[in-house]
Amino acid sequence: MSDRGAIPSCCAGLYELEITRVLLGPSLHPGGAALTRRLGAAALLHPGSLVLDVASGRGCSLAVWAEQFGSRGVGVDYSAQNLRAARELIPSDRLHWSRGEAGALPFAADTFDAVLCECALCTFPDMNGAVTEMLRVLRPGGRVGISDMVLEAPVPEALQGLFGRVLCIAGARSRRGYLETLVGAGFEAVRHEDHSSALLQMVADIEGRLGTARTLAEAGELDLPSELLDDVELLGTARDFVRSGGVGYALFSARKQR
Ligand SMILES: C[S@@+](CC[C@H](N)C(=O)[O-])C[C@H]1O[C@@H](n2cnc3c(N)ncnc32)[C@H](O)[C@@H]1O
Repeated sequence: MSDRGAIPSCCAGLYELEITRVLLGPSLHPGGAALTRRLGAAALLHPGSLVLDVASGRGCSLAVWAEQFGSRGVGVDYSAQNLRAARELIPSDRLHWSRGEAGALPFAADTFDAVLCECALCTFPDMNGAVTEMLRVLRPGGRVGISDMVLEAPVPEALQGLFGRVLCIAGARSRRGYLETLVGAGFEAVRHEDHSSALLQMVADIEGRLGTARTLAEAGELDLPSELLDDVELLGTARDFVRSGGVGYALFSARKQR
């Protein structure tokens, strides 16, 4: 099997691409480390908490929580390449990395104090199944924390290409949709916070990084998809879509029954 195998996600492969790293920077989600810390606080992390990070990417979030809250953790991700990067970048005997699929987590029931998932749930082909898996592996009374894109209006056709996939909005649900998903799975004490300003900032950051990417492409150091060069003005469309409230970013937290 290749590193990626049959990727069960709209864009797991996209997150392995150099161009995605260049455009998104190190953390792969809006709000950077500050919003990662906020998610950890919403899940009531504390010293010794055992955290599962679902779709852990290159491991930055687990490292942030370990530093901020003294938690231990396991990162699970489908991408062998991202897991390799996590092992290399974040060597720690408190953090472990495991290859797995969000819809069939390779862990026993009632294992973790908290299950967190940043900017990835909307990319999973079976969102309800993934949330049910999160509930299963949480210990009774444990907390789930999810941050993700929220979609309150149809995605403009212009954004359905590469930028739409980098921003990962196609599979997103409305705020109400996520809340209903959590309640439907059996979670209680479900809460949410709006962080759409972080998404607006991310669009501005992508704009800045695209300039750098073009310079690298001109120097022959980066293979920049021509689709990106052709569609630069789409960032303006993306900004307008965020400003109009059509797409946003939100944090959800909930508890497994005791
Ligand atoms: C937007 S990145 C987010 C990474 C990390 N959570 C962060 O915020 O920095 C999405 C990640 O989800 C992973 N992924 C996508 N679909 C997955 C699935 N079905 N199961 C496990 N991981 C998946 C990708 O490999 C990628 O690392």
